[in-house]
Amino acid sequence: MKNILVTGGAGFIGSNYINTVLSQRDDYFIVNLDKLTYAGNLENLKPVENKKNYVFVKGDICNRELVEYIFERYKIKYVINFAAESHVDRSILGSAIFYQTNVIGTNVLLETARQYQVEKFLQVSTDEVYGSLGATGLFTESTPISPNSPYSSSKAGADMMVQAFYHTYGMPVVTTRCSNNYGPLQFPEKLIPLMIINALNNKKLPVYGDGMNVRDWIYVIDHNIAIDKVFNEGRTGEVYNIGASNEKPNIEIVKLVLSILGKGEDLIEYVKDRPGHDRRYAIDSTKIQSELGWKPKFSFDEAIKQTVEWYLSNKEWWGRIISGEYQKYYSDQYSGRIKG
Ligand code: NAD
Ligand code: DAU
Repeated sequence: MKNILVTGGAGFIGSNYINTVLSQRDDYFIVNLDKLTYAGNLENLKPVENKKNYVFVKGDICNRELVEYIFERYKIKYVINFAAESHVDRSILGSAIFYQTNVIGTNVLLETARQYQVEKFLQVSTDEVYGSLGATGLFTESTPISPNSPYSSSKAGADMMVQAFYHTYGMPVVTTRCSNNYGPLQFPEKLIPLMIINALNNKKLPVYGDGMNVRDWIYVIDHNIAIDKVFNEGRTGEVYNIGASNEKPNIEIVKLVLSILGKGEDLIEYVKDRPGHDRRYAIDSTKIQSELGWKPKFSFDEAIKQTVEWYLSNKEWWGRIISGEYQKYYSDQYSGRIKG
């Protein structure tokens, strides 16, 4: 049995990870430590909540006493760190919590993992640590780290700390850096669910700048299969990029969502750009493909339709979310931007 501390497992990617791996493996015992911020939602974990090899603990990764208790009580030997403040726009509105959770929280996990001599510490990172690309080229694992937003700089700080624990203490760490995820259970602040939900509500679709910023999209299950592969087979001390080679300008994504939903493009509104907006991300995932034999399974055209279908079939899930704190966030983020 592998006793694994999964942090941030009530969020979008973490909950998809837990649901996927626990449907396939009975040799994992997962303790999910999640603070249940605005982005954490226990409804996401319905498929596993009664499993014997799953435990949920509500708490903060910055709380050393609690983290030590979990290591001791559940004999933790593995850590997969998903927990983070994850939204770039929120980091622009206020950065402190990003450095608290993403940097200090990772430090608490690393120190405790060192104390309890873990066998593997997987840091879930992002391609945003590499900064922005021009019109050509791809991020490889040797692209210099050059983050531009408070969010990405906090993730980069954590990545460097993880590497330092490897070099200094020989801690068995491994880091993944993935591109933009989409799929079920994604919080509606992110581009794809925001556009789906606004379109369903006949609200304006706010496209930043000229809509030509490029993101490289991957279905969340493909990301999670890759994480599990790196967790089990990745080489200690290494970084693995994860991506599915689906580069799209934002406006293309927005128009695609509208066409799947049968809605008109008159809902689109170009709005004031995100400050410091990275122009283009694109991942070279040759390393994980050639070393570990991973490759994406889901085609973008199919998986985006399934994602839209999921939001159509789960209106209660997102209806509850957008009726709470989200309204205030939406107004802080968009009221100075959207005219219509
Ligand atoms: P999310 O915002 O949906 O979920 C984050 C989860 O972490 C939530 O459940 C939240 O409650 C929890 N959390 C936040 N602060 C915490 C704290 N102090 N202690 C314990 N739990 C805390 O994020 P996501 O999109 O699922 O991203 C998960 C990870 O993947 C993050 O580390 C993110 O940087 C990384 N990542 C995301 C993407 C993407 O496209 N979403 C791509 C690459 C990497
Ligand atoms: O690349 C990986 C990263 O992808 C992750 O590390 C982050 O956690 C995740 O949030 C995501 O960051 P982005 O900033 O790329 O994702 P977001 O969905 O916020 O925005 C995608 C693009 O769409 C970006 O160019 C900004 C644009 N956008 C976004 C929103 C929310 C708009 O044009 N309008 C919007 O309302």
